[in-house]
Amino acid sequence: MDTDARELLAELRLDHRNMAVVLDLLEDLVIQMENNKDPDFELFDEIMRYMTVYPDAVHHPKEDIVYDKLRTQRPDLADGLEHVPDEHRELARLGTLLRDEVDAVNAGAAVVRREKMIADTSAYIEHLRRHMYWEEEDLFPRIDTMLDAEPQAVDLSALEHIKDPVFELEIEAGFRRLLESLPPAA
Ligand SMILES: [Fe+2]
Ligand SMILES: [Fe+2]
Repeated sequence: MDTDARELLAELRLDHRNMAVVLDLLEDLVIQMENNKDPDFELFDEIMRYMTVYPDAVHHPKEDIVYDKLRTQRPDLADGLEHVPDEHRELARLGTLLRDEVDAVNAGAAVVRREKMIADTSAYIEHLRRHMYWEEEDLFPRIDTMLDAEPQAVDLSALEHIKDPVFELEIEAGFRRLLESLPPAA
């Protein structure tokens, strides 16, 4: 079934606002670790699980579809888009790595050095923020330009229709700490 690309773009922008809130929570955990405090590992685990089940599995594939549209309809606006798939892959790799480290700590199976955890978490936050900034400041406005000139429909049938488990569904089980930690306005 075809979806208006404008609707999809609005969803992508909302996803970014939600991801920014979660990254702020993750940054708080880094600050705790830097101050030699033990971070809330339950929250840490939920954040990294969220990042891998929603942004990596749903948000990035949705973006890939809309960027494909841009590439085919407006090659004149497609400069640099060829780097996006690699960035999405790298973000997924860093996220999975970090999730596995947190899992190992929670399972008591491995000792992950605090410095390594701080470095990996900071790198992940930095990378994702930089990527989102590029999209918001450069790529999404190009899609606006395309859609202002001519509305486009996108076919999302190849995507799994997974709702955001935290911000849309507010699933208590599995994301309890994360839901409790969200600021009231989120
Ligand atoms: Fe992206
Ligand atoms: Fe994005």
